[in-house]
Amino acid sequence: MEVKRVGVIGAGTMGNGIAHVFARCGYAVVLCDVEPRFLDRGLDTIGKNLEREVVKNKITVADKESALGRIQPVTDRARLADCDFVVEAATEKFEIKTEIFRDLDRLTRAEVILASNTSSISITKLAAFTKRPDKVIGMHFFNPVPVMKLVEVIRGLATSADTFTTVRDLSIKLEKTPVEVNDAPGFVSNRVLMPLLNEAMFAVMEGVATPEAVDEVFKLGMAHPMGPLTLADFIGLDVCLDIMRVLQNGLGDTKYRPCPLLIKMVDAGWLGRKSGRGFYKY
Ligand SMILES: NC(=O)c1ccc[n+]([C@@H]2O[C@H](COP(=O)([O-])OP(=O)(O)OC[C@H]3O[C@@H](n4cnc5c(N)ncnc54)[C@H](O)[C@@H]3O)[C@@H](O)[C@H]2O)c1
Repeated sequence: MEVKRVGVIGAGTMGNGIAHVFARCGYAVVLCDVEPRFLDRGLDTIGKNLEREVVKNKITVADKESALGRIQPVTDRARLADCDFVVEAATEKFEIKTEIFRDLDRLTRAEVILASNTSSISITKLAAFTKRPDKVIGMHFFNPVPVMKLVEVIRGLATSADTFTTVRDLSIKLEKTPVEVNDAPGFVSNRVLMPLLNEAMFAVMEGVATPEAVDEVFKLGMAHPMGPLTLADFIGLDVCLDIMRVLQNGLGDTKYRPCPLLIKMVDAGWLGRKSGRGFYKY
């Protein structure tokens, strides 16, 4: 089946980026969130990010306008019924995602592939909430989606070869580079990255160094484009905490214990860049 119409669930940081790249590459996009204000915010971000591409001469003003025109914002999930492919990028909570997958299974045609952009939740488990586990897959984009080249394509236990090939080819059409990974807590990216960010937080909590100093060590010593604490603020500290908890529960090793400072900051509502305060002030 040719994919023409794509459903994207969640218009937050990742969902609006995913809608952006699909629309820019000519796909009709139905963007779904729970409240109009989240859709307005997502569309506003897409408009600004497309404008950046215009300024950099990557696309024309006409490309920007036609991409925006291809995105249809909806709060009623039933409007995804005629989509040929759906990517879920809702909040990283197991109960939220399982409810969505169960409902998408009911709403969409049986041949439609249901992908999740989850950072850490088991694709195999999400698939088990549907009657089409062979058509459930992880399509893990990176932030900011319009810029980052990688898509981690995650095969659940039941994911079929056809489903994998379709998502791999779709990623290439979006001008991304797909990398095949098997389902395991945190996949590859977050299993390796999050413990690094968590350890950097322990170093700050224990007074080993300031956030600025930790970040300088990684920028200058390891040639990272940004330090781990800047990156954590950028990802969102609530997202980091959720992923550490998935690693801790899924892998059962104390080395995945979330840093108490991270827990405290999330409790305080310091979620990083998006809330104006994290390890830095914005
Ligand atoms: N932020 C990152 O750097 C990053 C990177 C890769 C993957 N992810 C993953 O992408 C997903 C989204 O993360 P985010 O950073 O965009 O979060 P976010 O908080 O910015 O956005 C989540 C959006 O989902 C919406 N939502 C919640 N429940 C919903 C529902 N039932 N139906 C429709 N929309 C719903 C929220 O209103 C919100 O707009 C998560 O699974 C996360 O793990 C995040």
